[in-house]
Amino acid sequence: MIIVIDGPAGSGKSSTAKAIANRLNIQFLDSGALYRALTYLWLAAGKPDKAEFFENLPETVLQAEYRDQNFFVHLNGEDITENIRTQLVANHVSEIASHSQARDFVNNFMRNLVKNDTYVADGRDLGTAVFPDADLKFYMDASIDERAKRRFKEMKQSNSSVTLEEVKENIKARDHTDQNRKKDPLKKADDAITIDTTGKTFEEQLNEMIAVIEEKLKLKS
Ligand code: C5P
Repeated sequence: MIIVIDGPAGSGKSSTAKAIANRLNIQFLDSGALYRALTYLWLAAGKPDKAEFFENLPETVLQAEYRDQNFFVHLNGEDITENIRTQLVANHVSEIASHSQARDFVNNFMRNLVKNDTYVADGRDLGTAVFPDADLKFYMDASIDERAKRRFKEMKQSNSSVTLEEVKENIKARDHTDQNRKKDPLKKADDAITIDTTGKTFEEQLNEMIAVIEEKLKLKS
């Protein structure tokens, strides 16, 4: 079984998906982390020509695992879980994610990963392009100010120099690129349930979604 949560940056998808995974004792998949991993790889290689970079991508060994409340990512054996959360990676990730080779690589990885377990996954195009037959689809949204404030609070913990304005500009730019790219743009799936989290507490929005999931599970059994 797979539950997907799509939505723009900072809408609370990852923290909600993690909380759902913990409550229901299922696996969590953070698709944004995988695009961040490819972006980190490209930056670490010195921003090579994209055609050359994507040509060598099949040689890359990507591993991901949800454990101890954290989504761990390993690239060619190196633990890059922390490295993918920098502002530099955030500034380039939408550019890398707009390339079809990056999307094919990440999508294949995700489709293989979810084969053997029950997952809740978060991203941009999961309900529309990657898992169109998902058992349950959510689309989370919130105002740009609220999303920027949340992401800022999160980033402040590891990067004290980042400003709220920088975070807000980055979110706006990423939303624009993600919504307007040719290949699998960020878009609500027709059959997704919209959850607007503006003004809601985390517990409220989580309980709302858990109730929908439990209802769905009851209908399935
Ligand atoms: O979720 P997160 O903000 O970490 O995602 C980082 C970036 O990865 C997004 O801004 C988007 O460009 C890309 N992404 C995507 N498709 C997904 C998940 C993330 O294009 N399914």
